[in-house]
Parts: sequence; structure tokens; C-alpha cells
Amino acid sequence: MVSSIYLPEPARILDVQQMTALEKLFTLEFFGGRSLGHQSGQFVTVSALGIGEAPISISSSPSRSNGTFELCIRKAGDLTGVLHQKKAGDTLGIRGPFGQGFPLKKFQGKDILFAPGGLGLAPARSVINQVLDERGKYGRVTILYGARTPAELLFKGELEEWDKRDDVDLHVTVDQPDDDWTGNAGVITTLFSKVSVYPRNTVAITIGPPVMYRFVLMELLGKGIPETSIWLSLERRMKCGVGKCGHCQINDLYACQSGPSFSYAEIKAVEGAI
Ligand code: FES
Repeated sequence: MVSSIYLPEPARILDVQQMTALEKLFTLEFFGGRSLGHQSGQFVTVSALGIGEAPISISSSPSRSNGTFELCIRKAGDLTGVLHQKKAGDTLGIRGPFGQGFPLKKFQGKDILFAPGGLGLAPARSVINQVLDERGKYGRVTILYGARTPAELLFKGELEEWDKRDDVDLHVTVDQPDDDWTGNAGVITTLFSKVSVYPRNTVAITIGPPVMYRFVLMELLGKGIPETSIWLSLERRMKCGVGKCGHCQINDLYACQSGPSFSYAEIKAVEGAI
């Protein structure tokens, strides 16, 4: 067990899967054998010695931890470029888990509507799989997922599994279809007309790029879902992860500590949050 919250703990890479041209899925375990002990919606920081550190959402569900955890990392700069060169057997530094996850206990008995976009499926997958592993505790489960192109769809194997289940209503769309695409074409908001919602008994969880939120929120509010039942994830330039550096600050709110999971009711009045 590492004694300082600032000191990364070494974790061994067990497996690396290329998911798309830009994203890889890393399976890790701590050398010390401790489990990450996270909640769905939390994040860790990942470091490579001498290069730097980046905040990364946790993609695996706590209900499937088995002593390991998964991180979907997009290649987007120097550090993530170095991380993408790592192989099974290599070591990464991990701090966390940090932040507040989604309060799933509060959602029990409700219908759950997931609306992840792009890389937002990586943290959403953690919540989705936890809900599916405890399926009897929830009402209807609907997943609306949007990506830019078919090649950028994440977790294709799991999308197929969810699609086959008769207790999950999955709808997938891409903004820019290719010649082989037979599904819905258009942005994620084009999927909302395909689903019916009992607004008073529905919790919506949306995770995606900030530009998506405004439009998805309009759809969710338009369906009559209360602001307290709409949840989203705000990942704002997290750095220390523990409320010290101020990098994630939105007015007087530290996203790394109060979030990244927030209800819309909590953050709608916070200037610059959405
Ligand atoms: S990331 Fe440092 S205060 Fe939130």
C-alpha cells in the first residue's frame, strides 16, 4: 500500500488491446495485490516514469474487478503516446481512485437511460456493466451511444452482447457512416425519438465531450426527466486528483473531489460547468 496520495503505486500491465486507431484498452493489477476498490464513475491518474501523469477514467466495473482494472486510453499527446507503446508485463504508476462515482444505490428500482458519446463510453461501460451485473435491481435499461464514425465505435464486442440481450434496449448511431454501415446515421440526439421514457421513474446518465451535453440535456429535459435524475461526468483538467492544485476548479467547485459525477441539478447554476 502506498502511503502518500501523491506517490504513484506500481501496477503491472496484464493485457493491451487495440480498440480503434486511437484507443487502447489496458488491463492492470497492482504489484502489491490490492484491488483498486473503485466506484463506477471514478478516475485514476496514470504515469510513466520521467514523462508525466494524466487522469484516466476507469472503464471496468467494480462488479468484475477480480483484482484487476481496465483503462481505455486515447493517444492524444506525448504521455499517452508513450503509454500506447507499453506492452503486457510493463509497469505504470497509478494514483487513486479519485472523485465521486455515480450513486447507483439511489438509482435502484429506476429505469436507467445511458447516453454516452465517443470516448464517454469508456467510463459509461463501467456503470453499464455494474447495472447489468445487478440487473434485477433496476427497471428498464436503455443505451444510446453515438460515435463519429463506425471505425471509432468502442467496445464493439460488448455492444454486440448488449444488443443481443432482451433486457437491454441498445441504439447506436454514427455521425459519418461508411458504405458498410446499416445502422442509424446522425448525432446522438437523433436516437432519442426511438425510445419511450417514464420520466418520473428514469435516471439518465450521459458522459461525453462537453459540446454534446447541451444538446443531450435538451433532449432529456424535453422528455420530462427531472434535473435531479440527470447525471453527467465533468472531467476538467484533473491533475492532483485530491483538491490541492486547483486545475479542475469550476468557480468554487473542485471537479476532482465533488465530481466528476454530478447531477444536473447540482451544477446547472455553476457558471462555466456546462
Ligand atoms: S485536480 Fe487538483 S484540485 Fe482537482
